[in-house]
Amino acid sequence: MPNLLSRGLFNLFFGSRRRAFASLPGPVPGILGNAGDFLGGEKPWNVCARYGREYGGVTVVWLGPKPALVLNDPTLIEQVVDSRRMEFEKGSLHEQLKPTTTEHSIFIANLNGDWATKRQQDPFVQPWSPRWLAAQVAPMQAVIAESVDALIASGKTVDLAPALRRLTFDAFAVAGTGEKTPDSVYEDFMLLAKGADARLQSNLPLRFVSLPKGFEAARERFYRYFEERLGALRRSPKPGANDLMSWMLREMPGFDDQWLARHVALMFYGGVFSSCTTLVGAFHQLQKHPGAEARLVTEAATFAGGPPTLERLNDARWVEAVTLEALRILPAVRIFIRTPVKDVQFAGVTLPAGTTLMISNQHLHRDPAHWSNPDSFEPTRWLDGGLARDPIGSGHFFPFGRGPRMCVAANFAMVFLRTAIATIAARARVQVASTEPFEEGFFFGVVLPTNVQTKFTAR
Ligand code: HEM
Repeated sequence: MPNLLSRGLFNLFFGSRRRAFASLPGPVPGILGNAGDFLGGEKPWNVCARYGREYGGVTVVWLGPKPALVLNDPTLIEQVVDSRRMEFEKGSLHEQLKPTTTEHSIFIANLNGDWATKRQQDPFVQPWSPRWLAAQVAPMQAVIAESVDALIASGKTVDLAPALRRLTFDAFAVAGTGEKTPDSVYEDFMLLAKGADARLQSNLPLRFVSLPKGFEAARERFYRYFEERLGALRRSPKPGANDLMSWMLREMPGFDDQWLARHVALMFYGGVFSSCTTLVGAFHQLQKHPGAEARLVTEAATFAGGPPTLERLNDARWVEAVTLEALRILPAVRIFIRTPVKDVQFAGVTLPAGTTLMISNQHLHRDPAHWSNPDSFEPTRWLDGGLARDPIGSGHFFPFGRGPRMCVAANFAMVFLRTAIATIAARARVQVASTEPFEEGFFFGVVLPTNVQTKFTAR
């Protein structure tokens, strides 16, 4: 709690603003508001969860002289992301991500601008997308197996997040283009991501945040790689090929080559970091729960013993339960930001345009009023109707967000994650050096498990 002088100064300067929010609970602000809560050592998602426990579904905090709301109430969250969504946008995300992504990105589109058109055109939600997706289990399984075997053969202890990030990138490359990219494409991808991350995490105005050395050249090369592949495919199409690029060329004739190529390139930014974080969380938890791991290994071996089809993956119910439980207990994306486009009435107060709303799933995914043993990794909760009780995108389970703007590739992510978990578990024992909670960093808007030293040994 700030000292008396600090509290008094805040009230002296900003008391009238504060009175407008008197009906909402929240921590007492000092002269810098409550910004100290977010600038100290505590992770922002843990701050949001603590507010949820201490103040309930809506908390008013002061970022300097500006109010912000932290939402932990499923009904209010539903309003912001669904029924009243046109009143809110994603704030400055567009400017932060612009140098790394391209104007084609739906992620940074404005709801009141061209978001709806972009969403409708997105390759992940076309009538043919489920057929493309069903065809990805086999090639992704093959490339994941290759990566796991290389990790086993190296005999080295590795940092799990970067190791699985590369595995994820390669699997996405196969789903997107039919084959792995050269290493240099991955390196360019990471450099561009670092540029975006610096802008996302900076407290300074963006004009003071410089991009990493070589950024422009890396950007040129990264997007050109996909354009050249697409050009080659257009000149010599591969009939019956099942990668996303081939499907788009066949099924989306009205779009130009740059549009098509960039949509494939952007899938890496959409999902590599979040998918990899989910995998790390799953294997870290599994080591703590040998019973759950043993059951997974048995089911994974059965899956690996036959043709890698989506039907057979769907039969692997424990693999799905492990995936869902990892998404519940360690969601990769824990805070989503929205800001009202103009002054709005919300939660009983008037929110000025531009007010930051922080929506977090950290508290609701572990709310003891909703979940039994909420802090425990128990995949069994997802069997026997668990997913019907708490569907993806519902009040207490929204790892992919909620409402019409929910992750456009959630289905792809689920197929990738299940294929990866089954394939890794079938081939390797993933031994993490410590089952103590890992340090959670933050990169590209996603939680980053830090320094999870791990050894892969053959099963
Ligand atoms: C475990 C994996 C993933 C997680 C946890 C995740 C999470 C999320 C979340 C929480 C949102 C909503 C953000 C908001 O409302 O502000 C979102 C949106 C989005 N995600 Fe994912 N995602 C994952 C995988 C992917 C993948 C694999 C892709 C692409 C291939 C992808 C592409 C997108 C895009 C384009 C959007 C924006 C949708 C829109 O604005 O309409 N995500 N994701």
